Amino acid sequence: GAPVEADVSKLKPGEMMTVEWRGKPVWILRRTPEMLASLDKTDEKVSDPNSVKPQQPEYAKNKHRSIKPEYLVTVGICTHLGCSPSEKFKVGADSGMGADWPGGFLCPCHGSIFDLAGRVYSSMPAPDNLEVPPHQYLADTKILVG
Ligand code: FES
Repeated sequence: GAPVEADVSKLKPGEMMTVEWRGKPVWILRRTPEMLASLDKTDEKVSDPNSVKPQQPEYAKNKHRSIKPEYLVTVGICTHLGCSPSEKFKVGADSGMGADWPGGFLCPCHGSIFDLAGRVYSSMPAPDNLEVPPHQYLADTKILVG
């Protein structure tokens, strides 16, 4: 499949958009400082906090699993059996998941939970973090996926 361009200039902090790449949904979430801070809380809940498994390009093997901390770019397909996790990315009471919810993604099929860096919680059916596709910035707010 051809690479696909995503214009993120209209994405406000806390908003997410989806582009299609190779028939897969690729999520781009513009994380707020609060969302980024939530990764400190989920560090101890996830099974591969340091992205040791090859679920991302080398340049996204960092705390935020991204090139720029603000933008998460990840394939929205559960690493268990391929369902599409639902977007529960809002933090706290706004999420409908309770005040303590740090934000993340919830797979409706067998209940796997991922945090706001796409890291899977420990002891979930899904074995791996969500995939970060190859991508690069063509400009400040223009991302090329693929
Ligand atoms: Fe997501 Fe099974 S497909 S938990």
